[in-house]
Amino acid sequence: MSMLKTFLTKNSFQTKKIGENLAKGILANQIKKSSKRALILGLIGDLGGGKTTFLQGFAKGLGIKSRITSPTFIIMKRLKIKNCKLKIKNLYHIDCYRIRNHREILDLGFRKIISNPQNVIAIEWADKIKKILPKNSIILNFEFINKKQRKIILKNSLLNLVLEKTSKR
Ligand SMILES: Nc1ncnc2c1ncn2[C@@H]1O[C@H](COP(=O)(O)OP(=O)(O)OP(=O)(O)O)[C@@H](O)[C@H]1O
Ligand SMILES: [Mg+2]
Repeated sequence: MSMLKTFLTKNSFQTKKIGENLAKGILANQIKKSSKRALILGLIGDLGGGKTTFLQGFAKGLGIKSRITSPTFIIMKRLKIKNCKLKIKNLYHIDCYRIRNHREILDLGFRKIISNPQNVIAIEWADKIKKILPKNSIILNFEFINKKQRKIILKNSLLNLVLEKTSKR
């Protein structure tokens, strides 16, 4: 049985919307309820594939008002989630594009961050830190098709469930 879900988007709005739906699905289904660790999204794929764009929608879906950008010099940024009813308190946006070694991520306190169930961690270029990326991370692959089209492939059975529920609403 395949555990892949594929989306073809025609503009950045559609890509953002998938991110937003995923966030809402995660909150609605409270996947995290039983989890003792952080939820991790590993975003991989083409340069300009839409990873940051997707995360803008994802942050919006979590109720975050501040804007997600492509960090030029910053590897990691924490965005607070204000809704006190939620178990999730922080979104960490990590971009591994510029790192040379996974040590650089460990040095930022990665182990502690991923062990806290109040955190959601979105990691762009997650394939650069394969060695330290937890096995249960949700992997999203972004493919550049042409100027306007992107293919997004989600790998995780749990995730399929969430998205099916949100799309039915
Ligand atoms: N269907 C689409 N989905 C997402 N972005 C799109 C789409 N069509 C055009 N774009 C444009 O493509 C660019 C995607 O850039 P974005 O920074 O999100 O990619 P990225 O994968 O994070 O790149 P990088 O690898 O440099 O981090 C944006 O300028 C966006 O407006
Ligand atoms: Mg990016």
